[in-house]
Amino acid sequence: MSSETLTLPYLDPSLSTVERVADLLARMTLEEKVGQMLQLDARDDLDDHILRRHAGSILHTSPERIVRASELTAQTRLRIPLLVGEDCIHGHSFWPGATIYPTQLAMAASWDPHLLKRVARATAVEVAATGIHWTFSPVLCIARDLRWGRVNETFGEDPHLIGELAAAMVRGYQGSGLSDPTAILATAKHFAGYSETQGGRDASEADISRRKLRSWFLPPFERVAREGCRSFMLGYQTMDGVPITTNDWLLSDVLRGEWAYTGTLITDWDNVGRMVWEQHVQPDYAHAAAAAVQAGNDMIMTTPGFFEGALDAVSRGLLTEHAFDRAVGRILTLKFDLGLFENPRLPQDGLDKVVGSAEHAALNLEVARRSIVLLENDGLLPLAASSQTRIAVVGPLADDAQEHLGDWAGGSGQAGWLDGQPRELITTVLDGLRQIAPWEVVHARGADICNLEQDPRGATFPDGQPRPPVVRACPPDEELVAEAVAAASDADVVVAVVGDRIGLYGEGRSTATLELIGGQIALLDALIETGTPVVVVLLASKPLVLPPSVDRAAAVLWVANPGMKGGRAIAEILTGAVEPTGRLPISFARHAGQQPTYYNQIRGQHGDRYADLTQSPAWAFGEGRSYTTVQYRDLVIEQTALAASGTVVAHVTVANTGERPALETIQVYVRDVVTSVSWAEKELKTFQQVHLAPGDVERVRIDLPVAACTIVDAAGGRVVEAGEFELLVGPSSRDERLLRASFEVR
Ligand code: NOJ
Repeated sequence: MSSETLTLPYLDPSLSTVERVADLLARMTLEEKVGQMLQLDARDDLDDHILRRHAGSILHTSPERIVRASELTAQTRLRIPLLVGEDCIHGHSFWPGATIYPTQLAMAASWDPHLLKRVARATAVEVAATGIHWTFSPVLCIARDLRWGRVNETFGEDPHLIGELAAAMVRGYQGSGLSDPTAILATAKHFAGYSETQGGRDASEADISRRKLRSWFLPPFERVAREGCRSFMLGYQTMDGVPITTNDWLLSDVLRGEWAYTGTLITDWDNVGRMVWEQHVQPDYAHAAAAAVQAGNDMIMTTPGFFEGALDAVSRGLLTEHAFDRAVGRILTLKFDLGLFENPRLPQDGLDKVVGSAEHAALNLEVARRSIVLLENDGLLPLAASSQTRIAVVGPLADDAQEHLGDWAGGSGQAGWLDGQPRELITTVLDGLRQIAPWEVVHARGADICNLEQDPRGATFPDGQPRPPVVRACPPDEELVAEAVAAASDADVVVAVVGDRIGLYGEGRSTATLELIGGQIALLDALIETGTPVVVVLLASKPLVLPPSVDRAAAVLWVANPGMKGGRAIAEILTGAVEPTGRLPISFARHAGQQPTYYNQIRGQHGDRYADLTQSPAWAFGEGRSYTTVQYRDLVIEQTALAASGTVVAHVTVANTGERPALETIQVYVRDVVTSVSWAEKELKTFQQVHLAPGDVERVRIDLPVAACTIVDAAGGRVVEAGEFELLVGPSSRDERLLRASFEVR
């Protein structure tokens, strides 16, 4: 760098970010400004991205290409450092040997914001050390249709739980502020309503009113906006015909207006191009680029044609030359706040000590234990310790290491530079039982799930993105079943590990059915027929429907992909070394035709069941068993007549009446008895976790501000309406499990 460049004000760290941004903006050409808004795919031509298109950011970069990108940046006129982004959504997904935690949905079963904050912090430490500055996490979408392929990426179905967990992760990622060298930028995505699909199809038009958005879909985002989440990613979908990328109401009126959000907006993958080639709502890239800029987007993800389109828009008079200043200013603000001009935060020496450290592995095991939900148990679990026991570990997922990790991890297909995470870092259920059980462990695969075939219409979409493969279910294989049945018949207990696999979930990979695919149902039927007690371990990215034979299983537990330590955690729970504590963050359907099954549905329909099936879910939001029993009693509200500014103070007794310890999640719902507009039957408002030793009886205090007991009225305003309310307290969202007490708001 010449001495003249060194003295330029934007390079002077003693100046404020505002001053530095203003100075740098004034020096940038139009091309440099447009380029600064581009986030391009590092797997493509980096030289072209950086030297010709002046890209401000890259994503999906292998370790080697981070270094190459930085060398190229050094050749540019102003040497503006790159922002490097990645989907580190449950750990540093695509970094070889990084710690891969349970998926977001799995971790949500812990109902523990503090734990998730620690996971996000540990992830940030690994990510920051490797030269990546920005994670596209957390996901705040509400999962309502279980057929949707991205349910695994969410925190489940409840807006309050989502808001609590997401806010915690944002705090974890961003640490003590962006100048902290271990901080990374968090991203709240996908803003907003993306998950409200048609028929579970990914990124279809979301049929969703503004009132409905304000009621359930926006509150978690508002929560993290106020928490200081530095970036928001926009969804793919259109609403009322308008792509989110150009939804002025959502972006300007609500986000930047009402919530006073000053962070950065990034589009999702090729949102700008899709308006032209997929949604056909813009005639060409010039118009699409102009619309995106005018709507207030800052960073344009992977639409290389935005560069030419935006320049064209200026020459055609669709945009002024200064139209880019606001967006570029925000991007540069991030770069200055991260200190990238002083230190571009390239991969550090001694990475091995940080990435995949023993400390993070211990945290991973801790969170995996908390991610497991025991759904049924006839008393077989925990397995009695006896060296005489023979245990048959059966099923296509029992020893499938990469499938324990789930989507956005190693071999899930988004990154070309690694096939999977190192096998030796992953403990499968089979490994886990072999490690800790004092028994003879035998294994049989028993069934296959599916094969993935290239779509006959071609491997890619028009924009060059991979087209999801077609799933071909594997038929039951008599030999595999016979082998598994033989193992089961000779065993004292069967642990059957079944579920789904990548290809049956993920982006653009929704399913029409929710049943177990391939030979798995035949396998379970045959295993249960042997008469040997069967423990079903459902290792499924999202709630699936289990076959009727499972009613005769001894126990069922679910864990969405449990991460590198998942098999160990499952083994510990089966053997009773650890107590099961997880609670469902999402309801399980009995049949795909029951969709949606979420608990906080709007009141009012003729009847309450299908002619041929109940509407009641197989397992409801909040449910989960312990190895002990916990009783709830004596719910009392101190003052039952309250002003809107008041606080409901209630007390409830919880008693551990069994013989093992419990970590009980006390769930507090509110029912607004009469509302001016139709509203949810009940809503989760707060929760607490208490440790109870056997025999412990605790009087727990609940504080709930009346201000939390809102509805969204017909005009779209969030209000507390005077009248009668019910406070519902208990271990799950099932009415029959909840104690009630009334209060009145005057
Ligand atoms: C598309 C996905 O929808 C989004 O969640 C992700 O962050 C980007 N691709 C980048 O990989």
